[in-house]
Amino acid sequence: MALGIGSSVPKVLSGQLPSHDLVTAITAEALALAYRIKGQVAPMAGSSVIDSSIVGSSSIGSALIEDGLRRLAPEQLRAALADFLPKGATAAEQTRAIEAGLRSPAGEALRDAMARWIVDEIVPVDRLVPQAYVEWRPPVRDAMMFVVARLSPARLAPKLLEQLELPSNTTAEVRLLRLIAKVPGLQKLGQVIARNQHLRPALRNALARLENGIRDVRPEDVVAIIRQELGPRLEKYAVHIAPTILSEASVSAVVRFTWRDPGSGKRERGVFKVLKPHIPEYFAEDMDYLQGLAQYFADQHHNYGFPANLLPDTFKKVRRLLRHEVNFVREQKTLLEAWSLYQSMPGICVPRLIQPLCTSRITALTEERGIKVTNAAARLPESRRKKVAEQLIEALVAVPLLAAQEDAIFHGDPHAGNLLYNNRTGELTIIDWALRERLSRDQRRHLALLFLMVTLRDPVGTCNEVLALSQQHIRRTSPRGQMVSELVTRFLDELPVVPSGVDAMVLLERIAMKGIKFPGPLIMLSKVMFTLDGILGDVGGSSTGMGFTIARHVAQHWIKNRKEFRSPLKTRDWITLQCSALLYTSRLWLQGEQAILDRLLPAGSTASLAST
Ligand SMILES: Nc1ncnc2c1ncn2[C@@H]1O[C@H](COP(=O)(O)OP(=O)(O)O)[C@@H](O)[C@H]1O
Ligand SMILES: [Mg+2]
Repeated sequence: MALGIGSSVPKVLSGQLPSHDLVTAITAEALALAYRIKGQVAPMAGSSVIDSSIVGSSSIGSALIEDGLRRLAPEQLRAALADFLPKGATAAEQTRAIEAGLRSPAGEALRDAMARWIVDEIVPVDRLVPQAYVEWRPPVRDAMMFVVARLSPARLAPKLLEQLELPSNTTAEVRLLRLIAKVPGLQKLGQVIARNQHLRPALRNALARLENGIRDVRPEDVVAIIRQELGPRLEKYAVHIAPTILSEASVSAVVRFTWRDPGSGKRERGVFKVLKPHIPEYFAEDMDYLQGLAQYFADQHHNYGFPANLLPDTFKKVRRLLRHEVNFVREQKTLLEAWSLYQSMPGICVPRLIQPLCTSRITALTEERGIKVTNAAARLPESRRKKVAEQLIEALVAVPLLAAQEDAIFHGDPHAGNLLYNNRTGELTIIDWALRERLSRDQRRHLALLFLMVTLRDPVGTCNEVLALSQQHIRRTSPRGQMVSELVTRFLDELPVVPSGVDAMVLLERIAMKGIKFPGPLIMLSKVMFTLDGILGDVGGSSTGMGFTIARHVAQHWIKNRKEFRSPLKTRDWITLQCSALLYTSRLWLQGEQAILDRLLPAGSTASLAST
C-alpha cells in the first residue's frame, strides 16, 4: 500500500498506551495519519511519530488532520479507518472507538471524509441516480453528505463500522438500506420521492423496493413493547399476538392479533400499529436535519436548477409526515372521527379503533381485508375499474367535501398503499389516518362551487370562488382582483376539450404562484387531488376522461344526500349554478354531458330544494 497504512497496529490502540483515553488515542492516530499523508505530498521528518504536544493542541491538530483526511482517496480512507480500530476488540468496543473519534477534534474532518467515502465509493450517487435524472445527482449527493455530517456519533459510529465490515461485493442498494436503517427521516424521504407520480416507473419501483426493505425491528421486539404497554389487558381481553411482522415502515411496525371482544363475546381479528422503540430517542435529531436540509436547499436553490421551492417543500413534507406519524393519540382521535364520517357510506370503510387496547405508543384497529387498490384494480375488467375510480373520488373528495360537520376532516396522504380494495366485496378501506386536515363549511362550499364552475367553464363564477377561497379579502375590481380574473379567463380558454379532474387545483396553483395566498388545508387538499389523479390514472377505467367525475359526484351527492349531508351548499348556489349550466350550452358542449346535467339539474330542482 502506497502509504503504508494498515501495516501496523496503532500503538495507542493495541494496549501500549493507556486505553482509557480513547479520544486522544483516535485523535492521535488521525493526526499520525495526517502526518503521513502530508509526508507523501511534502516529505516531513519523523512523520509516523506521534508528538503528544501537538495532540494536545487541538487547533493545530484538527487543521492538519483535516488536511490529511481531505487528501485521502476513498480506498485509502477505508484502509486508514480499518487501521483506526482496536484489533481483536468486540464490535461494541470498535463502535466506541469510532464514536470517540467522531467526538474528538478530528471528528468533523473524519465525518467529512467518511461522507465522501459513502457518496463516491460505497453507495455511489452516480450509480444510484440514473443518467436520465442526472440533474438530481448533485442534490442527492449534497443531502447525503449533509446528513452524515450531522447524525449523532452514537448513531453514526455503528453504521460506519457496519459499512467497513460488509463484504466488498455488497451491492450499493443493500449498503444504502443498511445506512438508512433506523433513520426515519431518510426512510420517509425515500418513500415520499418513490410516490412522486412524475418519476419514471422504473425509478419509482427501485425506490419502492427500498421502502419495502425497512427492517429495523424484530418481531420479538414488537411483541415485547406490546406486552409492556398493555400488561394485564392482554389477559383480560385474551389477546393472541401473531409472531410475524405484517408491515414495517419508518416509524411503526404492524402485527396481527386476535382478541375477545366483550361486546360481541366473539374472538375478533385486529392489527396493532406499534411505535418502533428507537423512534422516541431519534426523532428530534431527524426533525432537525430535515429542517436543516430544507433551509440549505432554500438558500442554495440557484445552484441546482430546480424551482426554488421544490426541494425545501419535499423536506418540509417529510417533516410534517413524521411529526404526525409519531403522534399516535392524534391518529386515534382522527380514526374515530373518520369512522363516523364514512359510517353511512356503502362500499367505503375505515378501520374501527379498538380503544381498550390503545396506548400512546400502540394503536389497535380492526383488521380489514383488501389489497393495495392499484393492484386490485389491475385484476378487474374495465367496467369494474371505472367503478373503483368513482369510489375513490367519492371517498376522498366528495364525502369530506359534502360532510355536514362544521369542520370536516379529509385524508391527507391517500397514496395507493393506504387504500385497500377488496375485489370480492367491492369495498374500499381507507387506512393510515396520521395525516389529516380540516376545511370549514364555508371553504368547502366555495370549493364545491369552484369545481362546478371550472367544469362549466364559467369565468365569472370561477373567479368569484377563487377570490372567496383566498386568504385575503380581494375585491374583484381591485388590481389584484383584475389579475385573478385575467388568469382565470386565460386558464379556461386554454383548457383542453377533455377536462381533467384536477383542473380547478391547477388553476389555484397558478394563481398561488402569482402571490395570492390560500389556506394551508386547501393547499394540502390540492396535493391530495394530484395524488388521487395519479392513482386514477393507474387504476384506469377512465378512458373517457375524469373531467366531470368530481363535479358530477359533488352534484350527485348534493341531490341524493342533501338531507343526510346537510350540504354546505345553499339554495342560492343552485340558482347560480343553474344559470351557469344554461349558459354553458352556448360556451362549450361536450358530447354526452347533457344527459348528466339533465339528471343533476332537472327542471324545478330549485323549487324543490328551496322547500327542504
Ligand atoms: N386495519 C388494518 N387492516 C389490515 N391491514 C392493515 C391495517 N392497518 C394497517 N395495515 C397494514 O399495515 C400497513 C401499514 O399501516 P399504515 O397505517 O399505513 O402505517 P404506515 O404506512 O405509517 O406504516 C398497511 O399498508 C397495511 O398493509
Ligand atoms: Mg401507510
